[in-house]
Amino acid sequence: MNVVDLLPSPHQYFTLAVELLQSTIANNRRSLSKRRTPLDFDVDINTGFFPPQPLANLPPAYAAWELALSEASEKLSLGEDDSEDALAKRASGEQWRSEILSWPVIDTEALHSNLRFLQRAHLVLAWLVHYFVHSAPPSNDDAPFVVPKSLAVPLVAVSRQLGIAPVLTFADTVLWNWELVDASLPVSIENMRFVNLFSGTEDELNFYTTSAKAEFRGIEMLRIIDEYNNLPNLTDLTTISKVSRDLTRLTAIINDISDIIQGVRAVVDPHVFYWDLRPWFEGSDAKGPEAPGWVYEGVPASEKLDLSGPSAGQSSVMHALDLFLDVDHKLRQRRYPAPSDSNKRADHGFMDRMRRYMPGKHREYLSSLASSPRPIRELALQTPALREPFDNAVSALKRLRDLHMRIACLYIVTMSRSTPGAHAGCPVASMMDRLQISRAAGKGPTRGTGGNELSLLLKAGRDATRRTLLKEN
Ligand code: HEM
Repeated sequence: MNVVDLLPSPHQYFTLAVELLQSTIANNRRSLSKRRTPLDFDVDINTGFFPPQPLANLPPAYAAWELALSEASEKLSLGEDDSEDALAKRASGEQWRSEILSWPVIDTEALHSNLRFLQRAHLVLAWLVHYFVHSAPPSNDDAPFVVPKSLAVPLVAVSRQLGIAPVLTFADTVLWNWELVDASLPVSIENMRFVNLFSGTEDELNFYTTSAKAEFRGIEMLRIIDEYNNLPNLTDLTTISKVSRDLTRLTAIINDISDIIQGVRAVVDPHVFYWDLRPWFEGSDAKGPEAPGWVYEGVPASEKLDLSGPSAGQSSVMHALDLFLDVDHKLRQRRYPAPSDSNKRADHGFMDRMRRYMPGKHREYLSSLASSPRPIRELALQTPALREPFDNAVSALKRLRDLHMRIACLYIVTMSRSTPGAHAGCPVASMMDRLQISRAAGKGPTRGTGGNELSLLLKAGRDATRRTLLKEN
């Protein structure tokens, strides 16, 4: 037989080519459909971890919750606050809490199929819990504080649906706590108004706005990460120069976030933050592991719940950045310089624990970043042209953490040594007593909102960032 006879005819060539093309398209479609987009994790291209629209109020069956929240700030004051203004609200606070104690446990099933209602229910109930706990007069006994079942049971139910801790979180205070100034304009930091405020002060408003600004600035960073993860290959020159440019963009974003954090000093008075706002944020463990903490009535094994307060340590943007650059908070990698003794003593589980305070979908998004088959640090290690831009981004993040440490020191450590009376309108005597008691117990000043050894923790985070650098540091 002639060899030429064995070759496919032009028609067969054509058919083969078409089949090949079709199977390539089908494969691409399959892999595209397998690849989860940020939207699958409730991460919006324009608003990042913020919902694309403000959360609407709950349906009428839950009106009592909404009403109690809308009245809380005018009726309640910190239980430990002995100022005249606070004392004037004692009776209305007493009544507000006793109404909540008399409420039935409302079933949340009707909300479970609607993500935004679940988020709204979490926000409302978590704010009510913190209002309830911290407006109650301080008790001298060692019994745990009982959070009534009318709040505890539905809050735990919606939290399980959302995969988030059943307590006030960064999402409740920042991501979900806003409405549009002008509903006809798109969501932007200028068009956002924060709604719920414990202290009602401009400082509190500015504190949430600062965190929101950092979060907004991070959206471009999420796009950079997404584009990197979707690059078809990492070998050709064009791709490497794109990655290099994107690392430079990332460095600028991190520097901007540093400026935003630094900006807090101009708009949030440290006294107001420490004495008027922070006490409302405290969670069950804020007074230390020996203190009785909270019990969620009607919730089995409530001692196992995650009940620390909100912290910007729960910001998914910052976690995404750490994961993308491969900052090793848990000290699992052998990196230079070796961790100091104080680094080793710090709480290495903090960042992981903070993820339990994020909405479950955002946590899943972070897990998807963590399992990236193409870690950028590895690529930079193998690609001389990327080493410097990568290290520049890491150095910017290290500078951010240095600066953040100074802010935390000013707003927490220094303020814990201040007297509340130094700021007019601050609650005085009982606050001092509270601080002295916690100091005597070896707690208080050095502990963060989440009950962590503050300086050890923040330094360990800064040092882990420094160890991410490729060049000797
Ligand atoms: C007045 C302003 C601020 C103060 C006093 C402050 C204080 C603290 C404290 C005490 C912690 C330790 C964890 C805890 O217990 O909560 C912490 C952690 C953290 N904060 Fe802030 N913070 C401030 C603003 C911000 C802002 C605007 C951001 C930006 C997103 C931020 C990002 C973080 C991050 C990511 C952590 C986790 C630890 C780390 O990554 O180093 N903070 N902060």
